[in-house]
Amino acid sequence: MAEYDYDVLVIGAGPGGYVAAIRAAQLGLKTACAESRETLGGTCLNVGCIPSKAMLHASEYFDAASNGAMADMGIEVSPKLNLDKMHAQRRDAVEGLTKGVAFLFKKNKVDWKNGHATFQDAHTVKVGDETVTAKNIIIATGSSVTPLPGVEVDNDGQVVVDSTGALELASVPKKMVVIGGGVIGLELGSVWRRLGAEVTVVEYLDALLPGMDGDVRKEAGKIFKKQGMELRLSTKVTGCTVKGKTATLTLEPAAGGDSEELEADCVLVSIGRRPNTDGLGLENIGLETNQRGQIEIDHDFRTKVDGVWAIGDVVPGPMLAHKAEDEGIACAENIAGQTGIVNHDLIPGVVYTWPEFAGVGLTQEEAIEKLGDKSKVKVGKFPMMANSRAKTNHEPEGFVKVIAEAETDRVLGVWAIASVAGTMIAQATQAMEFGATSEDIAYTCHAHPTHSEAIKEAAMAVQGKPIHV
Ligand code: FAD
Ligand code: NAI
Repeated sequence: MAEYDYDVLVIGAGPGGYVAAIRAAQLGLKTACAESRETLGGTCLNVGCIPSKAMLHASEYFDAASNGAMADMGIEVSPKLNLDKMHAQRRDAVEGLTKGVAFLFKKNKVDWKNGHATFQDAHTVKVGDETVTAKNIIIATGSSVTPLPGVEVDNDGQVVVDSTGALELASVPKKMVVIGGGVIGLELGSVWRRLGAEVTVVEYLDALLPGMDGDVRKEAGKIFKKQGMELRLSTKVTGCTVKGKTATLTLEPAAGGDSEELEADCVLVSIGRRPNTDGLGLENIGLETNQRGQIEIDHDFRTKVDGVWAIGDVVPGPMLAHKAEDEGIACAENIAGQTGIVNHDLIPGVVYTWPEFAGVGLTQEEAIEKLGDKSKVKVGKFPMMANSRAKTNHEPEGFVKVIAEAETDRVLGVWAIASVAGTMIAQATQAMEFGATSEDIAYTCHAHPTHSEAIKEAAMAVQGKPIHV
């Protein structure tokens, strides 16, 4: 009899876990995946990336029809919102994709153990009533919403909600307050603003989208304001009371000072996410989390406990689905004795609003700090207004910014605000993965007319020689 039931047991079937399980099985390892949800796909497929993009895509059409953008192109329509149908197409998208993962598990012979997993020892896990042993165990338990003290989320009540509740609102709020001007706040705030809500974003810092390039953050403020969002920057929420269908928030300047009250019929709490390790039994294997609640790993995704590995939102790094997926593949390959590597310096980030905000590599501020002096960094910028395709499509907002090392011309970062910035950033990531200089990008032929030509022009601008501006 084999020493263990499985070669690999993955805990969590999000984009990190399900991808790791499939790759492990592809490599000939006997694999199981424990998942407590009734469906596979984790946060991303069930309540994250996919349903939020379904609502963003649908609401974008509604907005274009109602705000005059379609009329500008000679299409005159008066849109009528059928919110139930919009929600139904979102649920269809989720159902199709989560079932797709179940199909892939069957096809690749990955056994799904449905239940909450708790470590008994480093090779034994209890999943519901079943005990499963494995030679290698990958923790891919993901993350959940960070709570805000004094503001209690009640998704069923639909007044104070988190991202999961904000995807399911049964009617368009009149006044929505978003706490946190990060990715979730701006994406889901955009959905409900487009559908008719008055949206106020309360952000603790002095600019939106922390982590992104300074110019991008500044421009984001202007763009969302122009779209009608009220921005309360450098402001914190200190409390919330709910009476019936109305929430009253107490706000204070972030630096301290007089408080004020703000009423809303919907409040979205989106101040970040934290790793899921509760009830996992880490104490039974002597594994501690760091100060941020994350599981520390080495370059190969090994934890301090032999045979136990970890990937995705539960480990340090950006909480992004594609980062989790790549780590899942690399971790499974390492377990199989191959060399699995993820280049954590080049994980692109995208905010799927209108326009989209995207970036990869260093911000200008980080590049200057890393190289120690402003003169060591060269920047080329190109406005979307001067890009023929964006201009023709009535999408003039945004720019592309290429940041390069002055001495070597090596590209250190690329940032883009454009209708399709999320798609454009892939070419920048690939170029940087191959160690491109700005000249390499500038002398690469780009199809015309495309938004991507703005990346080429921004690269030409690093040498001070863009053509179209
Ligand atoms: P998760 O997807 O969180 O999956 C972990 C799974 O483990 C869960 O299904 C959970 O039920 C299960 N689990 C946890 N503990 C146990 C246990 N003890 N036993 C059994 N099962 C367990 N990222 C992007 O890159 N692009 C986007 O557009 C994007 N949009 C998002 C929108 C929203 C609203 C949210 C909330 C997130 C979004 N993200 C996006 C982030 C993305 O969803 C996460 O980075 C990604 O899901 C992390 O993958 P993971 O596999 O590490 O964990
Ligand atoms: P976030 O970290 O992006 O933004 C949280 C914001 O809340 C920050 O700007 C922060 O300064 C602010 N904040 C914190 N405490 C506050 C307070 N008390 N009052 C006011 N503001 C406060 O986190 P978010 O938006 O919740 O998203 C969580 C994670 O999910 C992100 O890390 C992101 O990686 C991932 N995600 C990714 C998406 C994408 O890739 N398109 C979409 C949605 C989520």
